[in-house]
Amino acid sequence: MESQLDAIRRSFDQELGQARNTEHLEKLRIKYLGRKGRLTSLLRQMGKLEPRERPRIGKISNELKVYIDSRLQAAGAILSEDKKTSAGLDVTLPGRAFRRGSIHIINQVLAEIEDMFVDLGFSVVNGPEVEDDYHNFEALNIPPYHPARDMQATFYFSESTLLRTHTSPVQIRIMENSQLPIRVIAPGKVYRSDSDVSHTPMFHQVEGLWVESGINFSHLKGVLEAFVHTIFGPDVPLRFRPSYFPFTEPSAEVDIGCFICGGKGCRVCGNTGWLEILGCGMVDPAVYEYVGIKDESVTGFAFGLGVERVAMLKYAVDDIRLFFDNDLRFLKQFS
Ligand code: DAH
Repeated sequence: MESQLDAIRRSFDQELGQARNTEHLEKLRIKYLGRKGRLTSLLRQMGKLEPRERPRIGKISNELKVYIDSRLQAAGAILSEDKKTSAGLDVTLPGRAFRRGSIHIINQVLAEIEDMFVDLGFSVVNGPEVEDDYHNFEALNIPPYHPARDMQATFYFSESTLLRTHTSPVQIRIMENSQLPIRVIAPGKVYRSDSDVSHTPMFHQVEGLWVESGINFSHLKGVLEAFVHTIFGPDVPLRFRPSYFPFTEPSAEVDIGCFICGGKGCRVCGNTGWLEILGCGMVDPAVYEYVGIKDESVTGFAFGLGVERVAMLKYAVDDIRLFFDNDLRFLKQFS
């Protein structure tokens, strides 16, 4: 019986050396330790042994049982460890893709607008988002009773400090602090207490200002035509419609041909065939007085456009709030 036990151990060792996965190990366990397994069957014959032999053989068999059991466990642990590392690597599995960030559509449009004006020789300048009443309103010739000062539209910190409601105060700051000629754009965030499909409390504007002796309305037209044709395409028509702003005289609003109906008139353009995209005009002489430009040969134009508005028209987005909801399904369309 002792030699039989020895043979079991040797054949187990040999078979274990060939096991390649956990199913093989399980088969081995059944083959040697199972109810009808080789070791179990042998142990059943213990009764046939002479009584004085039983304790010794019993001990050897038990040791063999423990041995087989522990070798199987150790092999199982090694195999499952291998699975996690190189030996178990499934090279056919698709790789895990990195999630790439992308530039927000508003910043993309902003960059496109900036590049276009930089190509025309404009420099990019910035101004503060927390403004004072003087730069946001007064120096822009917006008198105290003007509706733009309405508490409902402006976020105030105090009577004299507020979140800028437009980028036009940067015009004042630049004219106060620069030598002529001035040819700048001022992009940035602006704030108004307003929220619906076409308004959000924060949005972006790009202000433009060209001040220099001899600048006239045709320069304004040329620059804004270049803007529309670069951003919306060379065939998009535009028109200048007389308007009013306290800081420009004369003032105009620029419309582009409705991209939905092609000018025939539809719901989006309110049956006019035109969509408003910006405000502009020749700098009002009253503004030059505020900033201390006294040379009467100096003239200039200014314009202000809404970046979200441009993006909405360019990509046919019908709710401005989509830009700021941070819904990746929407934003990814522009990445
Ligand atoms: N600041 C105006 C607004 O927010 C837009 C504007 C109109 C800016 C005419 C200008 C301009 O520079 O000349 O509604």
